[in-house]
Amino acid sequence: MLGGTSDLAGAVVRALARRRLRAVVLAGRDDERLALASQAASAAGVPDVRAVRFDAQDVDEAARVVDECFDAAGSVDLVLSAVGVLSHRRDELDPARTAEVVSATYSWPAVALTRAAARLRDQGHGRIVVLSSVAAVRVRRENFVYASAKSGLDDFSIGLGEALRGTGVVVQVVRPGRVPTKMTEGLPSVPMSTTPDAVADAVMAGLASGATVIWVPAVARWALAAALLVPRSLWRRIPG
Ligand SMILES: NC(=O)c1ccc[n+]([C@@H]2O[C@H](COP(=O)([O-])OP(=O)(O)OC[C@H]3O[C@@H](n4cnc5c(N)ncnc54)[C@H](OP(=O)(O)O)[C@@H]3O)[C@@H](O)[C@H]2O)c1
Repeated sequence: MLGGTSDLAGAVVRALARRRLRAVVLAGRDDERLALASQAASAAGVPDVRAVRFDAQDVDEAARVVDECFDAAGSVDLVLSAVGVLSHRRDELDPARTAEVVSATYSWPAVALTRAAARLRDQGHGRIVVLSSVAAVRVRRENFVYASAKSGLDDFSIGLGEALRGTGVVVQVVRPGRVPTKMTEGLPSVPMSTTPDAVADAVMAGLASGATVIWVPAVARWALAAALLVPRSLWRRIPG
């Protein structure tokens, strides 16, 4: 789990544990949060829980971190990418903040997933599940730094899946609406909001169906198709 301390990764671990998850490697940046996430995974019934430290601001280390996770795990069935940093209006003209958001939301995951893909291809099997967002589909003024980085990662992941066709490795992209987690603390609920458990359930269903893109809620697929048709003069006025 890249971003193993994330609330959504926690929900996915619990859902996998209900179907017998034997081992998980949680990769995160903070020892205390890693300890809490590890305890939660153990409490959910995962017998073997390991933790790996990384910082998504350090892109040069991304491939090494993935190798550390794979070496700790042995054979890997699933890689989940849940790393990301949300941007806000207040920091949209701050170059350092832009670099931080883009590194954690796009650059680090893209490099890490490239290495994960190579390791899974060498195994001859495995899944990569990438937490993208509905925000990636039509970028909004409100959080355009984050949304554009997500958009890049979304396209990257679909391209990676195409590059891996025939290798036994499958890439799946999850596009949730807003979810109440520590990333969105204090933000209001908006149309197409969902819950961590609903995202986890959709990931489970997606693993079974093999769908390339998983929308949560499912209706977001049609809402975003319609959103693409809204003229920019109107789009910029939609609050949220
Ligand atoms: N919540 C939503 O509304 C929503 C909607 C669509 C998609 N998503 C995506 O779902 C994923 C999980 O988000 P979440 O809602 O569960 O929020 P979250 O709990 O804040 O998860 C974000 C993860 O990224 C990690 N991270 C951020 N900067 C890092 C850095 N420099 N080094 C290492 N790790 C770093 C966080 O670590 P810490 O735990 O240490 O902070 C956390 O594990 C994200 O990719 C997010 O973009 C979320």
